[in-house]
Amino acid sequence: MIRLAIRNVGKDFGGVPAVRDFSLDIAAGEFVSLLGPSGCGKTTMLRMIAGFIAPSRGTIELNGKVLSSPSASLPPEKRGMSMIFQSYAIWPHMTVAENVGFGLKLRHLAANEITRRIEEVLAVVRLSNLSTRYPAELSGGQQQRVALARAVVIQPEILLLDEPLSNLDANLREEMRFEIRRLHDEFKMTTVYVTHDQSEAMVTSDQIVVMNQGAVEQIDSPYALYNKPRTRFVASFIGRTNLLPATRAGEKIDFHGFTLPADQFDGLDDLGSELRFSLRPQSIHITRSQPGSSAKGEFWVPGKVLKRSYFGDRWDYAINPGGDLSVQVSTEPAQRCEIGETVWMAINPRDMVAISA
Ligand SMILES: Nc1ncnc2c1ncn2[C@@H]1O[C@H](COP(=O)(O)OP(=O)(O)O)[C@@H](O)[C@H]1O
Ligand SMILES: [Mg+2]
Repeated sequence: MIRLAIRNVGKDFGGVPAVRDFSLDIAAGEFVSLLGPSGCGKTTMLRMIAGFIAPSRGTIELNGKVLSSPSASLPPEKRGMSMIFQSYAIWPHMTVAENVGFGLKLRHLAANEITRRIEEVLAVVRLSNLSTRYPAELSGGQQQRVALARAVVIQPEILLLDEPLSNLDANLREEMRFEIRRLHDEFKMTTVYVTHDQSEAMVTSDQIVVMNQGAVEQIDSPYALYNKPRTRFVASFIGRTNLLPATRAGEKIDFHGFTLPADQFDGLDDLGSELRFSLRPQSIHITRSQPGSSAKGEFWVPGKVLKRSYFGDRWDYAINPGGDLSVQVSTEPAQRCEIGETVWMAINPRDMVAISA
């Protein structure tokens, strides 16, 4: 059953589009991220869902009821949503429990019900033993958990989060990603999460909406986005990749340095003759001596090592198979090759994704 339906939503500021033709269905209980670089329209889209901004075009519906359209907009407080902003603020003069319970008091819940719900949510965010502390006595991560607990305790139908981890240091950010997903799984809230950090989106989300310059590039699961990117932007924004330019020439694909048979690839016909192929650095394997035969459908392409960098847990090589092509390859730390040496790259067409150039 679809809960939130966003249909062809656009928003202009002073005639300049910040969001263009955005459509998305979010099912009940789903965790969806809006992912893209700074300025791509994520916050604007989230604020339209929350009701702080009316769309210039399109509609937003919840369970078949129109929340937003250019002509009418239900106010934020009537939408059953909770939003956590980039610069969340918890009240310094209230204890953890008072901060969390404030929204319940406003809603005039019975005192024992308020106490029960505060205890429940504090247990989930692992703050039970800190309920009488004041914010100044908490770490950054603990304050963030209070903000999350405060948003969740009112049991919103939809939880909206706008880069909630951007003020935390790197270690804490990584830990809180898992916390946010755990919180979601515990309360089964429909969640829309805005971030520019692809790992945050990958770890937390069922579906990711990749945005670029106000428009949706692709909506998919983290797995599909990584393995089947449909645009150059998505291929390079989600993880590292080689975007190899290629020309279709009859039965062959010419990568301007090596060629592969065209019949190894599906779905090339719609893409024209100038193509790009995404090939992840860690999908390529290399050997130092010339391999005998191809067992798993891979093709062996010789190339010269141009550059190498050692990261402890991997090597990154830049390898030139001909022309002025430079292919990035990541290997295990034990795979050591010298600059100038000729190596063989095992390239499997199944690991390559064709994108129209
Ligand atoms: N209130 C506003 N008035 C004018 N321009 C705005 C306003 N809010 C956002 N914008 C512009 O819309 C674009 C998208 O902004 P925003 O949604 O904040 O992006 P993001 O959250 O992805 O960083 C930006 O170019 C920004 O400058
Ligand atoms: Mg933003």
